[in-house]
Amino acid sequence: MHRQAHNYQTPDRTLIEADITTYLRRHESKDLLRFLTCGSVDDGKSTLIGRLLYDSHMIYEDQLEKVAKDSKVFGTTGDDFDPALLTDGLKAEREQGITIDVAYRYFSTDKRKFIIADCPGHEQYTRNMVTGASTCNLAVILIDARYGVITQTKRHSFICSLLGIKHVVVAINKMDLVGWSESCYEEIRRDYNSFVTRLSFADIQFIPICALKGDNLVEPSAHMPWYKGITLLHHIERVNIAGDRNLIDMRLPVQCVIRPDLNFRGFSGTLASGVIRTNDEVMSLPSRKCSRIKAIYGADGILDQAFAPMAITVTLTDEIDVSRGNMLVPVHNIPRVGNEFEAMLVWMHEEPARQGATYLIKHTTNMVPGVLSHIRYTIDVNTMRKSEEPPGRLELNEIARAHIILHRSIAFDTYAKNRSTGAFIVVDRLTNATVGAGMIIDRVTSENGAPAPVSKHIVKSHSLVTSEEREQILGQKAATLWLTGLSGSGKSTIAQALERRLADQGRAAYILDGDNVRHRLNRDLGFSMEDRAENIRRIAEVARLMNDAGLIVITAFISPYRKDRADAAEIIGAERLIEVYVNADLETCEKRDPKGLYKKARAGEIMQFTGISAPYEPPEAPAVIVDSAASSVEHCVEQIITALG
Ligand code: ADX
Repeated sequence: MHRQAHNYQTPDRTLIEADITTYLRRHESKDLLRFLTCGSVDDGKSTLIGRLLYDSHMIYEDQLEKVAKDSKVFGTTGDDFDPALLTDGLKAEREQGITIDVAYRYFSTDKRKFIIADCPGHEQYTRNMVTGASTCNLAVILIDARYGVITQTKRHSFICSLLGIKHVVVAINKMDLVGWSESCYEEIRRDYNSFVTRLSFADIQFIPICALKGDNLVEPSAHMPWYKGITLLHHIERVNIAGDRNLIDMRLPVQCVIRPDLNFRGFSGTLASGVIRTNDEVMSLPSRKCSRIKAIYGADGILDQAFAPMAITVTLTDEIDVSRGNMLVPVHNIPRVGNEFEAMLVWMHEEPARQGATYLIKHTTNMVPGVLSHIRYTIDVNTMRKSEEPPGRLELNEIARAHIILHRSIAFDTYAKNRSTGAFIVVDRLTNATVGAGMIIDRVTSENGAPAPVSKHIVKSHSLVTSEEREQILGQKAATLWLTGLSGSGKSTIAQALERRLADQGRAAYILDGDNVRHRLNRDLGFSMEDRAENIRRIAEVARLMNDAGLIVITAFISPYRKDRADAAEIIGAERLIEVYVNADLETCEKRDPKGLYKKARAGEIMQFTGISAPYEPPEAPAVIVDSAASSVEHCVEQIITALG
């Protein structure tokens, strides 16, 4: 037995013995880290977990006694204590020497409480790993120092990244078997770093360990004085996970409506993310009816505010229709509402998923029938390569990008933004078995970003009137004048004067303006790069249709990204597009500040504000540049009319 570890007394343990009430109070307010351990049969995963449990003294005496006895029969350590036997709970797995299902273990130190999801490592158990990983903050990826980064290391890392795990510990185990070699550790570290760049982890901590003997788990190892880093336990006690919580996007999926009498109508659910306060203005989705929070009830009575993942009941100031499956959200920060999306889908059932089949999609408090309309490609978890051809079906443990169409609309976010409202489970309609799990990645887009049709059964119809004929009837050439520039640069003012002037000339023109379009057509979009791209895409599609109808379109959108403007040009057609750069320097725009938004952005009240906290990329070769800081509106209009011809 490892003496030092055995003698390690956690402050918890001392306190439990001295003052159990204080201990319990403190324990309750400690934060919780959920982590999963990934490794295969021989990587020493069970040993590592057993060691953590043992060293944190969260094991009962009788369990220990039994393990001591079992160590002699099943152990891999001779007569020594084998910590793996604490965790390899199932008889079957002991006999086979493998772990076959996700097992959850609990332990705590004086800093934090921990839940470990112990997932088996073999390829066929991807689904278990997905189940275990979906709620975890951190993953411990075990590597056998003798073998280094192998295929399954990559597979585990890929799945962790897919499931939105931000923090990774790469525990390089069995350092004793490589003579505690620093160069061996460094080489594995380099290998791992070189492949992991494609994944989206926020931090990666490498730790050389010997799980069996406890080196660098709790106490620094005497065998590896060259390692100056933190030990595993200290790292997981300290790693900052507070920032991972989504406190911005308030989402309350309504689980049930409570109506004890006519005077009370409460909506209960678990806050999926964000903070909710009394008097907040909220919208119910998908109905889009608005009201205010009258009161919030928690487990112990009325609260001023609540945050995820608290279970609460709220009442509203107005009698609006809200029922189970609806979602309450802030009026100025609404998720997508729709009946189709693209998702990464992990198949978890022997019966393969079939393209075109209908399943039940469980999303927050909703259960909606949905069609797996298109399986775009599968991803080989070992190489992270996409399949060349759309596979048509999805086998057990396969991961694919798929397009799903629901029978009715729901409110959802992308998984990257929100792990609760961006995730769903696929249920078989007949057996009720969970057959898959999905992470929503986007609304519908195809590979090259162009909009893809919802179904292959949509056929284009052709008009009997050509766009040339329409232009003839209207006596004008259709075009889109695309005005781009900072907020406050004068886009809307110039657009209005331009429209007036064109009407005076007897020409049919129409303005599409950022603020107006965002009130209706694009009211579901915010100001992230992704949302702005979608804003511009939809505008471009509308402009295209209006051009096709023979109209002159004037757009007034900041449209700050070159890529989005280039995509718009593609949609509208270069021959019809006239790019106009409404150029006014930031200082001028900020001085004008017509809507008072720059002031708010400077005060940090508006996020991602173009020019302040989000970039503006000026056009490289616009057809017209109007200097709206120095020229009059009339002059600018003149310049544009000249370019239009
Ligand atoms: S764009 O970037 O997607 O092209 P768009 O022109 O539609 O923007 O909308 C810009 C208008 O939205 C601004 O004139 C301003 O009134 C308002 N607005 C609100 N928040 C922001 C923000 N974070 N950045 C820029 N404009 C914002």
